[in-house]
Amino acid sequence: MTSIDAGPTGRLRLAPSILAADFGSLAEQVRAIDDETDWLHVDVMDGHFVPNVSIGPPVVTSLRRYSDRFFDCHLMMTEPGRYFEAFKAAGADGCTIHVEIGDTAALLTEARAVGLRVGLAANPDSPFATVAPFLGQIDLLLLMTVFPGFGGQSFIGEVMGKVTEARREIDVQGVAVDLEVDGGIDERTAPVAVAAGANVLVAGSAIFSRPDPLAAARSLRRVAMKA
Ligand code: DX5
Ligand code: ZN
Repeated sequence: MTSIDAGPTGRLRLAPSILAADFGSLAEQVRAIDDETDWLHVDVMDGHFVPNVSIGPPVVTSLRRYSDRFFDCHLMMTEPGRYFEAFKAAGADGCTIHVEIGDTAALLTEARAVGLRVGLAANPDSPFATVAPFLGQIDLLLLMTVFPGFGGQSFIGEVMGKVTEARREIDVQGVAVDLEVDGGIDERTAPVAVAAGANVLVAGSAIFSRPDPLAAARSLRRVAMKA
């Protein structure tokens, strides 16, 4: 399976999270928002790193038949390294692991060796210093704006200081790293995150829980672009 190009680093992107979609009609829902999807965000929860379980490689395999978009897989897992090959074979393009699980450098190297675009995520209470040493080794930095595990939570504005810090450091070092925020992103918070320096916006509820998800995604992009 060849990877789908993520596109130029740093450009504003919308990454709808399928966690908020109706899993009974996932393919239709994903197709309905295709025009406004830059990356499709796939939330994988193992019931261990986070107190919830969601989906895994079989769903990626199925969705791959319905979408040519970049699949941005967020692995909320204690042992993601056991599944990199399975995600790659299923059609994942990028996988993001959490810094809180440790063994970060080795896991990033393993993910890249499998042919994945590589991301590193930090929970709201993990300081920038925990991810800073890995900036030269990653393609994506994901700063969580909620504690992971559930969709529909409220945006934690205090994370914006860390987003600003990360943006400054990415620019100073001149590394090709996308800066993603995830959790509670809607028309009100998206411009705040973009102003702080984020360029990839994950949104679940603000798209799929709305009566017209395509229109909701379009309006989210519009407000984010004005920020
Ligand atoms: C949280 C997930 C998020 C979440 C976003 O554990 O990583 O991707 O689904 O959902 P909303 O946009 O509803 O906060
Ligand atoms: Zn996520």
